[in-house]
Order: sequence, then C-alpha cells, then structure tokens
Amino acid sequence: MNKTGKVWAGLLLLLTGSLTAPAQPGQAQPATPAVQWVETAPGVWKGSVGKPEAYDLLTASGAQPNTAALDRLGKTAFPLAPETIAARIVGGRTYLRFPLERGEQLYGFGLNFQSVHQRGKVLQLHMDHYANRDNGRTHAPTPFYVSSQGYGVFVNTARYVTVYSGTAVRRDSRHPAESKDRNTDKTWSARPYSDAVEMLVPAEGVEIYVFAGPKPMDVVRRYNLFNGGGCLPPRWGLGFTQRVHRLYTAEQVKQEAAEFETRGYPLDFIGLEPGWQSKSYPCTFEWDKTRFPDPAGFVKDLLKKDVRVNLWTNPYVSPDASMFPKIAPLSGSHTVWTGLVPDLTLPEAQAVYWEQFEKDHLAIGVSGYKIDEVDGNDVWLWPDVATFPSGLSAEQMRQTYGLLVQRQSADLFRKRNTRTYGLVRASNGGGSSFPYVIYNDNYSHQDFITGLINSGFIGTLWTPEVRTSKSGEEWLRRFQSVCFSPMAMINAWSEGTKPWSFAEVADPVREVARLRMRMLPYWYTEFARYHYDGIPPFRAVNLEDGFNEKPESRTVVASLNDNPYQEAVSQEIRDQYMAGEYLLVAPMFAGQTSRKVILPKGRWYDFYTGRFAGEGEVITVTPGLEKIPVFVKDGALIPLMPPMLHAPKAGQKVDLEIRHYGEKPGEYRLYDDDGETFDYEKGRFSWRTLRAERTRDGRWRGSISPAEKGKPNTVGSVTWTFMTP
Ligand code: GAL
Repeated sequence: MNKTGKVWAGLLLLLTGSLTAPAQPGQAQPATPAVQWVETAPGVWKGSVGKPEAYDLLTASGAQPNTAALDRLGKTAFPLAPETIAARIVGGRTYLRFPLERGEQLYGFGLNFQSVHQRGKVLQLHMDHYANRDNGRTHAPTPFYVSSQGYGVFVNTARYVTVYSGTAVRRDSRHPAESKDRNTDKTWSARPYSDAVEMLVPAEGVEIYVFAGPKPMDVVRRYNLFNGGGCLPPRWGLGFTQRVHRLYTAEQVKQEAAEFETRGYPLDFIGLEPGWQSKSYPCTFEWDKTRFPDPAGFVKDLLKKDVRVNLWTNPYVSPDASMFPKIAPLSGSHTVWTGLVPDLTLPEAQAVYWEQFEKDHLAIGVSGYKIDEVDGNDVWLWPDVATFPSGLSAEQMRQTYGLLVQRQSADLFRKRNTRTYGLVRASNGGGSSFPYVIYNDNYSHQDFITGLINSGFIGTLWTPEVRTSKSGEEWLRRFQSVCFSPMAMINAWSEGTKPWSFAEVADPVREVARLRMRMLPYWYTEFARYHYDGIPPFRAVNLEDGFNEKPESRTVVASLNDNPYQEAVSQEIRDQYMAGEYLLVAPMFAGQTSRKVILPKGRWYDFYTGRFAGEGEVITVTPGLEKIPVFVKDGALIPLMPPMLHAPKAGQKVDLEIRHYGEKPGEYRLYDDDGETFDYEKGRFSWRTLRAERTRDGRWRGSISPAEKGKPNTVGSVTWTFMTP
C-alpha cells in the first residue's frame, strides 16, 4: 500500500459510515482498508463492513450452519488474496470489490433463466416476477456467486444489490486495460478487461461471506451446508403431482384422483387452486363451503387413497377473512389486491396468521402449500414507499417475504413432526433448507431448463412445470423434463389438460411418470445428499469433475476449432444438466429430432440400453419421441423400485432392482429413513452400501451391506441388472 493509501485507510477506519472526500482530478482512487475476515465455520469466512443491519437474509431465514458437515469437508485456506478485496462506505452505501482473473467465469447471482455465465453483466438483484431478462429481477435474486476458480461470495443483505460482474474498469486496476485505437486496431473491444466484481449495497455496512473450494462444487456444498443443508422432502414429495381447476368441487377432485388410479398414472399429491377458498385475491384462507362442504372428510378420503392435498394461496388477507380485525394493526401501510400484507417479522402477526392455517388446514391433514405472489411485479406488490409496523422497509420486506412464508409455514409442519413439500414463487439467500420448489408463469421450455441449471448454484429448487402444449409432442417433451426435476408436476388446471389428454402420447407420458416413480430410491438418496452433504440434486454440468472452463484436450490440437469438445465446454451450456450423482439429462424440445450432448470426461452410457455412448466428447443423439436422452457415468449404480402409483409409506418395504452401468466397479450409499417425519434428526436413518464388482472369473456381482440393527430399513428383495453388455 502506498502512502496515500495508508492515509486513506486510517481515515476510512475513522470515517466508517460517513462520506469520504472525492479524489482530486488526476489523483488515483484511494486504496481502501482490507476487510477483516473471521473463519466462522471450516472453509467459510465472514467479513464485516461498517455497521451491518440487524435484519438480513440470514436473520429472515434463520439458517443455522451444519458445522459437523462443514467440518467433514475439511480445513482449507482463505481462497483469495485478502488485499484484493475492498470495501468502503460512501454516502450511506457500501461499495464492495472482489478480484476477477482473466479466464474466470461466474455462476449464480440469482435464479437466471437465459444465461448460465454471469460474467460481464450489470444486475440489480431485486425480488420480482421474472420478465424475460436476466437483469437480476427474479424469483430468487440471491446475492451469491460461485467462481470457476473455486470460491464463492455471499452478500448477506436484505437490500437490492447492484452488481457489476466484471464490467467496470478502474483507473487503479491492478491489471490496467490496454488502450487501443479503434480506427486502426482490429483487436479493439468495447468490453475491455475488468478485473473486478463490484457491488453496491444501499446500507451503511454489510456482512459478507467467502466460501472456499477448491472446486466450484465444494463452494456450492459449503454454501448449502452453511445454510443448514438442502431440504429433505418427504418421499411422497418426489412422486407425481397434479393441480386441478380452481372451481373444482370436492367430488370433482376425488374423481380426478380416481381417474389417475384407473388409468395407471401415479399421483402423490393433488393441488387445489384459488377456488378452495371462500374468497381469493385477497384471501380468506377459509374453505369455500359450497364446493367443499366437509373439508376434513375430503382430505381424509384422499389420504385413504394415498393422495395428499396441497393448497394454493397468496398471503394477502381479505376483509372477509375471520383473522382480518386481528391482523389489520399488524399489517403494512399498503394493500395487495386490496388485501392486507401481514408484517410476518412480528411474532404477534405470525401467531394470528398461522393459527388459521394450523386450525383449518394442517389439523385436518393438508400436506402443504403453494405460496403464490410473494415475488412481486411492481404494479401489484406493495411499493417501496410502503411502511410496516416492525419498522422494516418495504425493500427489506420484499427481498425476504418469500423466505418468511417458507420458514414459518414449514415450522407449522415441523411442530407436528411431519415433513412438507410445496411450491413458492420467491426465495433468497439462506433458504437452502426450506422444503419449497420455485415455479413461475413464464413458459419457455428452454428457459425452464436453464433455470433448473442455475437453481443448483444458489441453493434453490426449481420445477419446469407442465401447463399446456400446442401438440402431443410438446406435451411429452415437457413432461419428460419435469420428471427429471425436483418436482414432477402438471399445473394445467386452467386449460384442463390431463396427462392422457393427447391420446397419441398418453402411453409414453405414463411411462415416464412411472419411471419417475421407479427412480424414487435414487431421487430420495440424492436429496439426502443435498441435505447431509450440500450437493444439489439438480445442477449444472459445470460443477462436474472433468468438466471445466479450460479442459485439457485428450489429443494435441492446434486450435480450439480442431477440438470440438474443448470448444463446446468453453461455451455456455444451458440445455443439459446433472440429475444426481450419475445422470446427465439432455432434454429435447418440441420440433427437435436430434441434438448435441456434451459428455464430460470419462465414459458415459445410455440410460435405457446401457450401451457405451461416448467419452469426453460431443455426441449427436436422435432418441425418438418416446425418450428423453439420459446418460450414465461409468460405474454408476441406480436403485429402482417397482412403478408404484404412490410413494411408499413410512416403513413400507419395497423391492429394489439395482442397475449397474459401464465397466468400472461401482459403489453407492443408499439412504433410508421413514420418509415422513423428522426422526432422522434424532439419528433414525441409515445408509447402506451398494457395490458392484467383478469376480475372479470376470462376471459381475452385486452386494448390499446388511441392514443396521434398530435402524430404518425399507429395502425388500434386491435384484441386480448389469446394463452394459
Ligand atoms: C398464478 C400462479 C399460477 C396459479 C394462479 C392461480 O399467479 O403462478 O400457478 O396458481 O396464480 O390464480
């Protein structure tokens, strides 16, 4: 640091939170004091700048680190040169700066739908309904990014954060951009190299966290574990779900469930849209007695058929709701669709509000919610000039309302020692452990897949829900994707499309829905790994080993163009993703008959046939309409159960077919617990080791470790299939 720098550092230490003098013309920008870092958990450092606000994303979510799991990831050094991180407070706002190397790529910065690479963008991370632009306004505007260099940064604030992710070029840059003459120099660029990620937080201080790698996947795992680990849904949550017309009566809902059964389509929970409530938009949260004269009997009847009930709602309270008089003084200054916005940071408001949910819904066996409209859309939501009785600003409320409703509704189920799994339209940093999946109304199949890829970087779950389709082909293609996602859901209530509506694809639709069910043991184990190890079940191929920004080519090549694999992986990949430890999914979109798939290093096999598909290369596949291309890693073990129409109940034993793929021996830990309660938190779970190895005479042999005494064990008989000829 030079002399001027020292003076500035001293000044800034004294001036925390107040205005610093502007630099004189011709004088370089002042250097800034280094942020003091404290390792709060293994591989996670906290830096505090100025006076961080008491209310932030971690306060709102209540996330508690899983320190034991973080410990298991091991000790590691601070992943950045501390002097390259700068922070200062000017004019009541916090300026943050992090370094950016030339070859570095950035991922995350919220739930984006059209891009995976986030370098070179200006974003305002602002809770909003996604409006077809990756500009930071989205359903989870999470201020967290992961670098391809193997570290991550989380800004723990409930404010709108402005991000310059490698766009701005400073005069005092350590890597000054070279000035070129546009008239004559062909290498001139309008986007000169920027060596920093800069962020602006509208508050006089903020808490920041740095997560270590060494690999980007380790960063993501640390981030999730720091937030308590990913959610572990009930088994039934990973089955199949359908939403019914908003004006359906109890009888019609029951008939619909029965039709699934008779036609042989799986169904684990059924979602009721607004008309179950006596009034909605704003909501009463009370049953409409004309359509549902006996709600308790209705829920019970469906439960007898192994079908659970999920209720749509938005949070805004109707003047006709019985809670209205009590919640009114505890609500914000503005209404949303003429409904009250309860200040859910106030314990009194929480008590009044959720009591209704507990009494009218949970007590009669409702299994979960779809919590709509918590993301915003400027003209609908409360404006930024709104005030709340807690004194929190409208901005803080907007950034965190999705977290609050998830946390508080999930707590209701937890109090009953019952797991839930539902839908929400807004989340944010700190929300990894909430049992909610984000959805939206945009309906681009391609963008939905990119959303799925991006959700894995930021500790959220996303469903590429199926609503409507112009053709049987599109219906099937969308259906295939949703069956390889965190929630296999049809939300075609307004159009009335049923899984079997397009007769020409009714069979393959049923087949893929049943495949979803067959794969439950795999999905469930992969969610357990999300919970215990922080590994997102659905994620970008960029997080895979052997798949990185600068792959070494297998052959010596003169240029990128001579190596299509190397070329392919250095580009942005927004249409293929990993589903759990072993599967690479490459969805097909309507109109496509073939597509390219980039296979990471190592040998990959076709999921359906077990045949070799390729190795660290770009392949072209022509799968036919009935199949979604899925590729399996060498040595993979995929546990399957019979194609049941409902997920197994607590303690129910199921037979397993374990498939082995490829030439390598395989080992996989299969997770088990009751699938419904929180008893796993008291140690009531087990992991059993599956192994496939060759015997001396060259034949494959599979084994499963014995069930532990006194531990949950739902494995019935086991058969092995060695898929690769
Ligand atoms: C929308 C929501 C839809 C549906 C609808 C009900 O806002 O995104 O999925 O639930 O409300 O009115």
